[in-house]
Amino acid sequence: MIPSNTPVMTAPNATDAPDMAPINHGRVTPALLSSFSTMALRRKPSPRERSADVNMRHAATTATPVEPARPAARVAAFSRVTSSVREGLTAYEAACPNTKPAAVLPRRVFATRKAPTGKIQRQTTSRMHFAVLICASVATMTALALDNGLMRTPPMGWLAWERFRYSFNVYKSYMLFGSVVNIAVLLPSSENLFIDMADRLYEDGWKELGYVYVNIDDCWSSMNRDKDGRLQADPKRFPGGIPKLARYMHDRGLKLGIYGDMGTHTCGGYPGTTLDKIEIDAQTFADWEVDMFKFDGCYSNAVDQELGYPLMSKALNATGRPIGYSCSWPAYQGGLPPKVNYTQLGQICNLWRNYGDIQDSWSSVLNIVDWFFENQDILAPAAGPGRWNDPDMLIIGDFGLSMDQSRSQMALWAIMAAPLFMSNDLRTISSGAQSILQNKMIISINQDPLGIQGRRILKEKSGIEVFWRPLSNNASALVFFSRRTDMPYRYKTSLSKLNYTTGSYKATDVYTDQTDVLKDSTEFVVSVNPTGVVMWYVSAPGKLQYHPFIRGDKLRRHAYDAEQNNFL
Ligand code: GLA
Repeated sequence: MIPSNTPVMTAPNATDAPDMAPINHGRVTPALLSSFSTMALRRKPSPRERSADVNMRHAATTATPVEPARPAARVAAFSRVTSSVREGLTAYEAACPNTKPAAVLPRRVFATRKAPTGKIQRQTTSRMHFAVLICASVATMTALALDNGLMRTPPMGWLAWERFRYSFNVYKSYMLFGSVVNIAVLLPSSENLFIDMADRLYEDGWKELGYVYVNIDDCWSSMNRDKDGRLQADPKRFPGGIPKLARYMHDRGLKLGIYGDMGTHTCGGYPGTTLDKIEIDAQTFADWEVDMFKFDGCYSNAVDQELGYPLMSKALNATGRPIGYSCSWPAYQGGLPPKVNYTQLGQICNLWRNYGDIQDSWSSVLNIVDWFFENQDILAPAAGPGRWNDPDMLIIGDFGLSMDQSRSQMALWAIMAAPLFMSNDLRTISSGAQSILQNKMIISINQDPLGIQGRRILKEKSGIEVFWRPLSNNASALVFFSRRTDMPYRYKTSLSKLNYTTGSYKATDVYTDQTDVLKDSTEFVVSVNPTGVVMWYVSAPGKLQYHPFIRGDKLRRHAYDAEQNNFL
């Protein structure tokens, strides 16, 4: 029995309709078919090969050698720097006295992804080439680690990939049997998409809340580099080039992000940034006045990645332009130590993708949530101001989540101190989705200056889970999340059961604004909708010293070291 004086905080209405847009994007029209056929030529790996399944990514470092043949130009570049084996060795040893000598580098390095041509190809690179190339780069760069002072709180903005991939829909009017019919036509993404999104961020209140990045993802470039070996935007789709877009953003107080890949090709089959191209690409982005760079890892191998990600960090630093650096490296290494070195990542990257790609579905969100919280002991200490774990984009406002699930994604991303990159269509977003994404209290929890990543502190048999994040001013955030699929669940607990110290606390439900003052011993009930959350901001009267923590599914008490964001 729940006592009648028990405060009840409810989740927002469980009966909210899923956030579905009215348009059938899957419809095949002649125009759509013709744009598909053009793109089929470009979009080399099939959707199945490119599936976001993290297993594929992990397999990428162990699978059969399949890198496409190295273009002649690149071979020439390699030969230039390796005019003789002797010269190469000397250069390597002189530049890198403390690093691995060439002799211990693998004799042959095989890349591991299917060639964009679809053919299984094999490419080898001699260890000497690697040695000389790396050290030539290392020797010319002075900065030792990422030193851009950026992203002291998780970056926020909009990112094209999940919602728009390599294309987007426009609507064209056709006369059909005497009447006008509007048909969705799929076109490759172009500068208009980014301009539209910038306009929405600027005009619809997003920018003031912190959503300032507008990030281009894969498939923006031309299939060939220019005569000087620089990447260039596809001139048809980006007629003003990237500098025009950067100016457009900067004029509105926004920032521009761009995408590249530490391999022979991007995941979508466009030109990649091989080791010999790192400096020139970093400089190109700086010359274009880009503000953020996401470095993906398709069509490469573990050895190249180990060299390339730190080199790019140094190369970006060496340009003198502060460019936020997002590394997909850990996602290609399985996301966990010993393969992933989170200390090193924190020194060279501002954020990093740890895990597979998010898709537009609740199961995808749950899969990511499970992985991140199951590995929270490893991941949470890695995060802090200027260095963030990235569970991938917010899909709120798309097609796959109900309103409850949208609230859950927002709440859990805030607990994780995750970068908040929306991937949705801000031109047509529903007011419900917009109000979740623009929730000031959740954004301020996400952006808390301490930058401590929160944790799951309880997993109840009932399917209720409790998440907690310490915040500045001795405050904290609590999320009660339901994995149930039946009906709203009345979860009864008290702050002392959640290991808050003695005292009285003001708890504000961030979605309903309802506030209650609770003693630590007060029993309360939260009603949590299936797949939904109740999220509280808790102002604390005193410093929290002990918190519950799960090991082996048992609740244990551990002293919490706020500086290390770790339990002792
Ligand atoms: C990878 C990344 C995605 C996206 C695509 C683009 O799958 O993880 O976020 O950038 O490549 O091809």
